This record gives sequence, C-alpha cells and structure tokens, in this order.
Amino acid sequence: MEKRFAEQVVVITGAASGIGAVIAQHFAREGARLVLSDLDDKGLTTTADGLSSLCREKPLTQGGDLSQEDVAGRLIGDAVKAFGTIDVLVNNAGGGIIKPFLEHTPETLRTTIDRNLWTMLWCTWHAVPVMKAKRYGRIVNIGADSVRNGLYDHAAYNAAKGGVHAIATGLAREFATDEITVNVVAPCIVNTPQVQRAAAKAPQSIRKFIDVVPMGRPGEMDEIASMVCYLASREASFVTGQVISVNGGSTML
Ligand SMILES: NC(=O)c1ccc[n+]([C@@H]2O[C@H](COP(=O)([O-])OP(=O)(O)OC[C@H]3O[C@@H](n4cnc5c(N)ncnc54)[C@H](O)[C@@H]3O)[C@@H](O)[C@H]2O)c1
Repeated sequence: MEKRFAEQVVVITGAASGIGAVIAQHFAREGARLVLSDLDDKGLTTTADGLSSLCREKPLTQGGDLSQEDVAGRLIGDAVKAFGTIDVLVNNAGGGIIKPFLEHTPETLRTTIDRNLWTMLWCTWHAVPVMKAKRYGRIVNIGADSVRNGLYDHAAYNAAKGGVHAIATGLAREFATDEITVNVVAPCIVNTPQVQRAAAKAPQSIRKFIDVVPMGRPGEMDEIASMVCYLASREASFVTGQVISVNGGSTML
C-alpha cells in the first residue's frame, strides 16, 4: 500500500524537541520528504539524525528564529529550492511562558506573541503562495485547548494561541477553492519531556492542568501527531477552518 505522504513535501516548525519531533517521526514513517526548522540547531540535528532509519531522504534542516520574516521566508524558499514544492506546513513552533498575567514582563509578553503567533504568521504568509500556485496545500497549526477553557495562568499564552486559532477561519475561506485547507489541533497539557521536567520540580503546578482533564491524564505526543497527520492528509479534503481539540474531554463540543 502506498504511504500516505509518499512524495509529499512537509515543512514542520519547532521540530527540535517535544511534539514537533514526534510529528516529524509520524510524517517520516508515512513517506514524507521533510523540511525541519527550529531556533535550536543542535536539537534539530538530533531530530534529523533520529529519523535516518525512517526517511528515504535526509531531512532538510534550517535553524533560525521564525518570528523574523526573513528567516521564515528563507525556510520556505529553501524548501522549494530543494524539493520543488510544499504540500504541508505544520506550524508547531511555540511554547508557553505560563504565569499569572500580572507577573509577566514586557519581555515575556513579547516573547509569548513572537514564539506562537509571529512564527505561524510569517511561515504561512510565505507558504500560501506556493500552495496556491499548485492548487493544493494543507496547513495545520498547533493551538491550545486552554484558549477554550480559560486555564489558570494562560491568559497571555491564550492571546497568542487565540490568533493561531482565529487565522484558520479566514484563511480557510479565502483559499477554499484553491484546495488549501487550514486547521488547528488544540491539545490540553501534553506529556512532553519539558512537562515531565516541570512536574518533577513542581508537581502541583502541573497537577492543576491535569485535573481539568476528564480522562485524568495528559495527552501523549503520538496522540497529537496522529491528528496532525489526519488533517494534513488527502483524506481530510473536506475539513477546513476547524479547531480540533485533542484533550481527553477537557472541553467538549
Ligand atoms: N506541551 C504542552 O502541554 C502543550 C499544550 C498545548 C499546546 N502546545 C503547543 O505545542 C507546540 C509544541 O510544544 P512542545 O510542548 O513540544 O514544546 P517544545 O518547547 O519542546 O517545542 C517547541 C519548539 O518550538 C521552538 N521555537 C520556539 N520559538 C521559536 C522561534 N521563534 N523560531 C523557531 N523555533 C521556535 C523551540 O525551540 C522548541 O524546539 C507549541 O506550539 C506549544 O505551544 C503544547
């Protein structure tokens, strides 16, 4: 049976660690040609090396701060130069600075928006013309279920992720007849190495995020990645402009 992403070019941001690295593994197993980017060069190399047994071709890796327009433009340009096109963009780069709103500083507020919103905006802005020209594309943003349930200490993060959710509706409408779909996967707390480290240091801080999940546990990275792959696949051809929570029931409907 042909692999789901055979011959497709998939760009994944924030692929050096955590959920992004696992998303890369899923696409690699399903035959994708990968372009991986992150601020963290060393982590990116580790992710790419770890994929060598799964990938037919070595992933293209590019380090840099994707909240900068020129860096995002270079990523998309280099992907097209190397592989001729882009089929899928997964806007995964991000991450929270999770604290009560008034404990933020001007710097942490800016960083929160840069990491989560500008990275997505610039990569999308550069990738859509490539997809429009070929009349095919799948964009999947990683949002956050905290936007929907007002989770403790997440106000600033939600301001950024709210934009990540909201852009999907407008883009989905604007490019619907170009066969470009735009969707969001919104996880609750996920069992990433970073969350495990935080739980080891301050179990109570993580416990309150798990307590809102009816299933009583964090999501697994594979559970997020499998929804990303579905939305990025040809099977999801009639799904666009949606925010799909992968959250053990912590928000419903
Ligand atoms: N872990 C969770 O509980 C959880 C819950 C909901 C949503 N999310 C979202 O899932 C995504 C992945 O998070 P994760 O938990 O794997 O965290 P992570 O920190 O392991 O991964 C995020 C990656 O994004 C990269 N990144 C951040 N800013 C960047 C920039 N400006 N340019 C390029 N790369 C940048 C980081 O270097 C990092 O490697 C993020 O968007 C995060 O907001 C995570």
